[in-house]
Amino acid sequence: MTLDTPSVQYLNLDPSFYVREDVWHAERHKIFARTWQFMGPVSAVAGAGRYLAIDIAGIPVFAIRGRDGALRGFKNVCRHRGAKLLADGTGQCGLIVCPYHKWSFADTGRLVQAPWYGKDPAIIPEDWPLQEVALAEWRGLLFASLDPEMPLIEQLGDLPQELADEPMERYTATDSATVSFDANWKVYTDNFVEGYHIPGTHPSFYAAIDFEAFETTAHRGYVRMTAPPREGLFYRGKWLWMWPNWTLSLFEGGMNVSRINPTSPHHTDQHYHFFFADTSEAGAEARAKSVNGTLAVVREDYQVCVETHRNYAAGAYTSGPLSGRHEKGVQYFQERVAAALGV
Ligand code: FES
Ligand SMILES: [Fe+2]
Repeated sequence: MTLDTPSVQYLNLDPSFYVREDVWHAERHKIFARTWQFMGPVSAVAGAGRYLAIDIAGIPVFAIRGRDGALRGFKNVCRHRGAKLLADGTGQCGLIVCPYHKWSFADTGRLVQAPWYGKDPAIIPEDWPLQEVALAEWRGLLFASLDPEMPLIEQLGDLPQELADEPMERYTATDSATVSFDANWKVYTDNFVEGYHIPGTHPSFYAAIDFEAFETTAHRGYVRMTAPPREGLFYRGKWLWMWPNWTLSLFEGGMNVSRINPTSPHHTDQHYHFFFADTSEAGAEARAKSVNGTLAVVREDYQVCVETHRNYAAGAYTSGPLSGRHEKGVQYFQERVAAALGV
């Protein structure tokens, strides 16, 4: 779908949707549990025993490379009394040992040992394997889903065509960063899918692009924003956001990919992964410029998002109109949220 019909006036989502507990509950079940969530680069789980653990809107999951070479996904939750097994991030393990009472699980999810459990009655290990989570890979990126409503490729919509010429496989994941802010994930997403705020919020970024030529279009599965960069900007002038919560922005010689993950209606973490073609020592300065430049721009976004969220939460705001010229991506995102929640 391309939202290029002449705009009827579209009002911003009702502010209560950003703060209500029942909406948050519905989003967790109808959006975050049912969609594919970007975990990180597949290269993070390349060797036997390597794992990558993330949080999906409060549900911890991990992917682990088995000794048999297979990649498997599990809830990061012990079958005994529900403790978290592995710390978020990447690591290496033999058995997966629960820190609480030391139950241990194999990389196949099988319960190996429940020490000191006793024999009256004895535990039957086959009855208590880790709960599986679906995994899928696309062009070097790893995704997980708790209860997928469609295959990953279907969720991606027309994105594969959009990036067909991008040499993603030639890039190496070199850096990652997690940044956190006190705003609803939709406040930040609304912000990400429009360039309208660039003159007001990002003065240096504004000076580095031809803003008059900024274009935003919504497509099946994603929103594309483009603007011709002026000389010296680390961005290549194309920014993508994909349903429901991940982003991909092109650099000269690389890209960043991020996931926008809510941990409550009022708090969001954004997990960034940076990929570059040139991983040489000589390229370190250019890479640092792209990484730091990205984080500097998004910090400016967080500030305005936190203040906006506070106004929504306080009941200080009633929905205003969205720009047909610049905010079609916001409309696309909000309509998909409403459709997913059935409202
Ligand atoms: S909760 Fe994991 S061993 Fe008890
Ligand atoms: Fe921004």
